[in-house]
Amino acid sequence: MTDATAREGRLDPAAVPLPPYRLRMGGAHFKRDDDFVAAGVRDVRLLRQRAGLGRRKTLLDWGCGAGRLAIGVKHLLGNVADYHGVDVQPELLTWAQENLSDEHTRFTLVDQHNARYNPDGQATYDIPAEPGSVDVLYSYSVFSHMLTDDVAGYARTIARILAPEGRALMTAFVEDDVPDCVENPADYLNLEWSGALHCVRFDRRFFEQLVWDAGLAVEEYVHGRETDGQSMYVFSRRG
Ligand SMILES: C[S@@+](CC[C@H](N)C(=O)[O-])C[C@H]1O[C@@H](n2cnc3c(N)ncnc32)[C@H](O)[C@@H]1O
Repeated sequence: MTDATAREGRLDPAAVPLPPYRLRMGGAHFKRDDDFVAAGVRDVRLLRQRAGLGRRKTLLDWGCGAGRLAIGVKHLLGNVADYHGVDVQPELLTWAQENLSDEHTRFTLVDQHNARYNPDGQATYDIPAEPGSVDVLYSYSVFSHMLTDDVAGYARTIARILAPEGRALMTAFVEDDVPDCVENPADYLNLEWSGALHCVRFDRRFFEQLVWDAGLAVEEYVHGRETDGQSMYVFSRRG
């Protein structure tokens, strides 16, 4: 029995601190503590199956919010070699730093511009990780709030920091045969999109060419099954 199997399902939902409701990104889905924990655990399983995550791997959670995935890691695996959560929102990041950090779990606040989450931030595409150092990069519902230039810029950075055999599991709003990039598309997925970058939807061909040009190859694509109808991608470094 592996460590992970031995641990699976053993932790009481209350064993790891949970952020208050107002700090949970995707809040409407996560009113109940059980749902919040289950979503983190579910995504760690997905990373294990689709992106090779294991306890000896380094995991970069880009756009980590208040640490939903870190909570999933603690429940399912105990720890990985290095969990590194990165986000632009000080209140969420500070909560995660104060409540979830340990010798295998760390968080870094960055100050990059995002019109929705950090409008006064800097216009750079840095992600704090050494080149070739990230075994698994997870970025859930982050490209769904970025326009073309930002997706291209960050995809270049991700291609640089991924380990040679590394994988990036990311979600985005992607559809076939739609305009290249639309912010808050009307009548899309039966939801009301309002405010800066609430929903950025890409044409699939356009999006995949953009990330290919940035140095990432599509390993897997699953349409429409993630939160609010986002699609899931697994990328590798383009050889
Ligand atoms: C919809 S939330 C998703 C949070 C988390 N990934 C989850 O699924 O629970 C998007 C997150 O991306 C973060 N974000 C946006 N732009 C960013 C950037 N340039 N660098 C790091 N984080 C960013 C936001 O602050 C926010 O926490």
